[in-house]
Amino acid sequence: MRLIRNLALVGFMGTGKSSVGRLAAEVLQFDFIDTDDWIEGQTGKSIAEIFAHQGEAAFRAVEEQAVIQLGQRANTVIATGGGMVANPANLASLKEHALVVCLWASPETIWERLRSQTHRPLLQTADPLAKIRELLAERDSAYRQSDVLIHTGLRPPKEVVQQVVYQFHLARKSSR
Ligand code: S3P
Repeated sequence: MRLIRNLALVGFMGTGKSSVGRLAAEVLQFDFIDTDDWIEGQTGKSIAEIFAHQGEAAFRAVEEQAVIQLGQRANTVIATGGGMVANPANLASLKEHALVVCLWASPETIWERLRSQTHRPLLQTADPLAKIRELLAERDSAYRQSDVLIHTGLRPPKEVVQQVVYQFHLARKSSR
């Protein structure tokens, strides 16, 4: 039986992990942590700076540190970076203390949501939509290992929050 103390939101960039997570934390009266913010706080650098100056591997190493820290938490909603659970060890670690909910959207919806933003290093390419498709295909099986999968393209954000909170209550009931 798993002990579920926290709620972790995983999924691709632009699926709404941070905004849904913040609202879910309010409803549950939980703390809220965004792992990208945590990493920026720890390193004193933006995610884009870490990618540019130290490379993606260095970013993934700090991300692993973030995952380890999260094991100490209780009553926390955790919004993860989109690539975090591409590493199976990170997903396994989250599942030790959290219900892992994956937010899903189509590549087209993701691109629509992200096209006006410029701070995501992995999408600074000539053809960002192709990159989104490629990364989604690579990560598909990892995201599907989550406890719950919620399609965000079909619902307004408020409903996504309700679904997430509902699934969390259900899982908590059966984990006690
Ligand atoms: C990444 C997603 C980003 C951030 C970094 C890498 C990814 O987080 O961690 O740019 O590999 O998908 P968001 O999903 O919050 O944008």
